[in-house]
Amino acid sequence: MTDVNPLVAELRSLEAEALAELERADDALALDGVRIRYLGRKEGRISLVLRKLGQMDPALRPAVGAEANRVKEALQSALEGRTAALEAGAGTGSTTDLTLPGRRQWVGGRHPVTRVMDEIFRIFGDLGFTRARGPEAETEWYNFEALNTPLDHPAADEQDTLYLQGGGLLRSHTSPVQVRTLQAFEPPIRILAPGWVYRRDTYDATHTPAFLQVEGLVVDEGISFVDFKATLAEFARRLWGPGTTVRFRPSFFPFTEPSAEVDVKRVITLPDGSTHETDWLEIMGAGMVDPNVLDAAGVDPERYTGFAFGMGPGRIAMLKYGVTDLRTFFENDIRFLRQFSEDSP
Ligand code: DAH
Repeated sequence: MTDVNPLVAELRSLEAEALAELERADDALALDGVRIRYLGRKEGRISLVLRKLGQMDPALRPAVGAEANRVKEALQSALEGRTAALEAGAGTGSTTDLTLPGRRQWVGGRHPVTRVMDEIFRIFGDLGFTRARGPEAETEWYNFEALNTPLDHPAADEQDTLYLQGGGLLRSHTSPVQVRTLQAFEPPIRILAPGWVYRRDTYDATHTPAFLQVEGLVVDEGISFVDFKATLAEFARRLWGPGTTVRFRPSFFPFTEPSAEVDVKRVITLPDGSTHETDWLEIMGAGMVDPNVLDAAGVDPERYTGFAFGMGPGRIAMLKYGVTDLRTFFENDIRFLRQFSEDSP
């Protein structure tokens, strides 16, 4: 039995270890690790063995050198073989594709109804409107009577309105902010009042017991029906696009005279470039402020006139984005909300 040179033995066991590690390496990064660990010129384990050659009987050195070269070549070719095998396997999903772009983290976005609100405020802001607010807990006087709505009107019925214990109610619309603004400020007045309103409605696809409204009010000397129509038509075209047609349909609200419902007909461009006209879509209630409302708020109806309007940004968001169930705006399912985000991945 011949004694095996101890360095030759060490080289052989390194070879076995390296080959086993190569088998386990399953991506380019791991393969490179094996190469550096064993074949690295300074710190590689084979180089470290060869450094001990100096202390060895010179007669035995050539055998170690030859063995070292053989092991290096064997490892080099095993590395190449393993690299080729992994590359051939890429695309089957079995390995990591280092060329893939990183996954973007979604940091959130504005709620679709908030986006519509922001848009409404941007447009009316450009037209010179400022923002006003009023309380959500109101009195019957502000919510109904000052708005020319007698308490025996159906809207004031307990079936429709949420009354609070000890008097008062949750406002059923943002119109009371008209009265509060008229009391607090001298005309000229040009305000937009956003906020939550409450009704005794059953929660379904088109009703929620709490929803957002945006109220508008313009009061000054000499405000006419022309100002009313021109302002709201301009708003509708800025919101829905220049091709939009606007219609003022006669209607009734106790606090306006005459009253109208404002409808739009949109022109939609389909992906193939063709255009399509929608049906008439109702976007708000509006009218010339009833003199009785000015009077109740202490504003002289002989001197001042004005117009008012009210809309639901939730309803407008439904029309704008083609959403058919109002409840989706409240449930906050991230998969739903993400579709409206400016930066959705
Ligand atoms: N307050 C009405 C509602 O909640 C909406 C409305 C209609 C507001 C006409 C107005 C208006 O200011 O002029 O249904």
